[in-house]
Amino acid sequence: MNNWIRQARNALEFERALTGDLLPIAPADPDPERANTSNEPDASDDDMANHDLFGNQIDPTQDVTLPPAERIAALIPEDSPLCSMTSLDQVEQWVKETILVPIDEERTNAVLGVGNPQADLVIIGEAPGANEDKQGEPFVGRAGQLLDKILAAINFDRSEIYITNILKSRPPNNRDPLAAEVEAHAPILYKQLSLIQPKLLLCVGKTAGNTMLDRSSSLGALRDTFHDFYGIPTMVTYHPAALLRNPQWKRPTWEDVQLLRTRYDELTAG
Ligand code: URA
Ligand code: URA
Repeated sequence: MNNWIRQARNALEFERALTGDLLPIAPADPDPERANTSNEPDASDDDMANHDLFGNQIDPTQDVTLPPAERIAALIPEDSPLCSMTSLDQVEQWVKETILVPIDEERTNAVLGVGNPQADLVIIGEAPGANEDKQGEPFVGRAGQLLDKILAAINFDRSEIYITNILKSRPPNNRDPLAAEVEAHAPILYKQLSLIQPKLLLCVGKTAGNTMLDRSSSLGALRDTFHDFYGIPTMVTYHPAALLRNPQWKRPTWEDVQLLRTRYDELTAG
């Protein structure tokens, strides 16, 4: 099937799946200024680029001359066993057998993540729900089915990308993550990202977006642009569970994921 037809078909399917009513489909935004809003600083060739005026080494997480994977790895506390791990399997084994916070004791299954260990795109949600806790896989419930439809609409399959959450254990009654839980589990995500080395991140929902970007913004203020996560362009859009309750957010989600697809194609071309 040619690309144009596939896109048109997917756009229609997206509308049916997400909006329920068939609105006219706007073409992908052709304005290059909009599609390229990152402000990645140029790498400097100054020998002292990673030193301050006094010759002291700059915090590696802030050193824009380093690759994102190294900057992100530097976020992991030095005494964490994660630091020496070299594969996602090792990380998964450790997460399964380690209690970091009380929700780790209450879970049925830890939910590390699923997909391509070398994915160029990583999707980050908030935390496992009841279905995910039962199956040990992220986004398998109703919200997950909607996420799959959103991904299919921009020609992604689960197997191409990697999907994970901020928390690897289900909070009771799906309550919001506690600060202590985020602090304990975030290094696991940092390790995953430093191993996978994606070119692009998509955070779904306000909690994931604000946690990753260290903000406390509304979803409306976070979406529609690329943020910088230690050198990785990062989009934030609505959580599929929020879309199930608020269908009026499906249209802006569609716009966000089209920007994401365009950027993905640019970053993975050639
Ligand atoms: N919601 C999330 O944020 N993550 C999941 O894995 C499932 C639902
Ligand atoms: N509020 C949220 O928590 N998530 C969304 O996706 C939108 C609003």
